[in-house]
Amino acid sequence: MNAVHFYQNRQLELYAARNANRLTLRQLVFFGRSMNEERLIKSANYVRTELPVRIAHRLRDLQALPYVVVTNESVAKVYELYWSAFEKLRRYPAITTLAENEAFCSFLRGILNEHLPVIPLLSLGLSLSSPHLAPDYLDSFMRRMLVSRISRRVLAEHHIALTESLVEQRHRIKSRNKAHGDVGIIYTDLRPKESIERCVRLLHAGPNRLVPGLSDQAELTPPEVIIDGDADTRFAYIREHLDYIIFELLKNAMKATATRHRSQGGTGAVPVVRATIVAGPNEVNLRISDQGGGILSPYITSTSDLFSFSHVRNAARMEVDRLGALRLVSASQHGLSATVGEQVGERDTEKKIAPMGMGIGLPMSRIFARYFGGSLELVSLDGWGTDVYLRLPKLGTNLEGLEV
Ligand code: COI
Repeated sequence: MNAVHFYQNRQLELYAARNANRLTLRQLVFFGRSMNEERLIKSANYVRTELPVRIAHRLRDLQALPYVVVTNESVAKVYELYWSAFEKLRRYPAITTLAENEAFCSFLRGILNEHLPVIPLLSLGLSLSSPHLAPDYLDSFMRRMLVSRISRRVLAEHHIALTESLVEQRHRIKSRNKAHGDVGIIYTDLRPKESIERCVRLLHAGPNRLVPGLSDQAELTPPEVIIDGDADTRFAYIREHLDYIIFELLKNAMKATATRHRSQGGTGAVPVVRATIVAGPNEVNLRISDQGGGILSPYITSTSDLFSFSHVRNAARMEVDRLGALRLVSASQHGLSATVGEQVGERDTEKKIAPMGMGIGLPMSRIFARYFGGSLELVSLDGWGTDVYLRLPKLGTNLEGLEV
């Protein structure tokens, strides 16, 4: 190791030795609620000092991988991106004025953009490295990488959104007050019913690149989605996370239902998909039930394998289509929009959507669900259909589920 590497690794160790300063959703809301210049600058410096610590933990994780895995082209690219971000962030000078904060936000936007292909790169690299890693190790490595990435993007995006709303507040004409009480990237009055409706609209709209094999193919008729239960429920959550999960679950349910209906001759009406919302005192529950036949696949021996990133557990990961989709996305400029508000949100939708079929949606949805202490479970009634249960805490008091 030469002197520069020695010095850099020493810096890495110093940061990796610190604990992440984890937050709750409630803290993010409370801190952002009454924003002023002083608090915004405090937020900027928190993000500036917190991000390199969180990246350092993951750089250490990457360094601990077997040599044959780190030298895989895609994994090596992620390693480089993280080193470069770590170096830039740790050298970034303290922020003391609003103008400096503006520059910091542009800097963050640049990194957020640069890191868009990280998920397909990691997924591709780790799929190809599956023979060299025990499935449990591979899955826990991926989980730590992905949760940490979500957390870093949340901090950066929340801070950028707080900055934008402070600027807007200063220029605002009274009559154009925002109707909702959003704080940064958190929607304080988020309605799952509206998320479902938004996703269904996109999944029904065809021809639609979002769902190859569903609305792209004329002979597949997408099912209707019936929403029942506590349809008026609202809670405070990150809309992009909820939308990502709901979009993935509905996409799977609708695709399975439409495909099965066609394979059975396509006569009669397509069975509906049912989305049931249940508001508990501490959580919001959502069940999505379909009659798409369940998870009957020669590749899958247990439903937990569906959540695995290892092709030893889930050989479907090595299908040529999937690897092709991953290669395409990781080589593209925008990569996978992991916070797929970008995917289902109204703004910029077309530019950001990733080709589907990469096999990331379900494990990624569970990682989003667990980030603030929720859960995602799947039950297959083989030969009939699938029920997926999503539980999200609504008090916002759980710490981010980061593992060190
Ligand atoms: C990522 O997207 O992987 C990041 O680490 C982004 C963060 C440094 C803002």
